[in-house]
Amino acid sequence: MVWHNAMKATKLKDGKKKMVTVKRRMLMVGRSADGLFATEALCRHMRWPLAWGGKVEDGCVRCPLHQSTYRLEDGKMLEWSPFPLFPPYGKLLGAMVKKKDLKVFDVREHEGYIQVDLV
Ligand code: FES
Repeated sequence: MVWHNAMKATKLKDGKKKMVTVKRRMLMVGRSADGLFATEALCRHMRWPLAWGGKVEDGCVRCPLHQSTYRLEDGKMLEWSPFPLFPPYGKLLGAMVKKKDLKVFDVREHEGYIQVDLV
């Protein structure tokens, strides 16, 4: 494992998430009741930055744009663009992009920094 500093640990409060760039990769790093998590920064559907309004709940992150949901533990996509306001529209949007899981990264707190392993 090769750990890279993502940010100072004091910059990430409980229940918060941030978008950071580590080695030219954009990530979302957060701290929930279940602990730290790190994923790729952009939703797999239409590339919305998940740190901007994504809802973290029950070990999952839900994209605010069309409501796609991913499990934080392994990135598995659980719901793809359901967009409940007008169901036929959500289905159409969902079909525009191939379904993909979210990439997740190992993360730890070490010597005052949040660190990620980008492998
Ligand atoms: S961009 Fe995230 S669900 Fe569409």
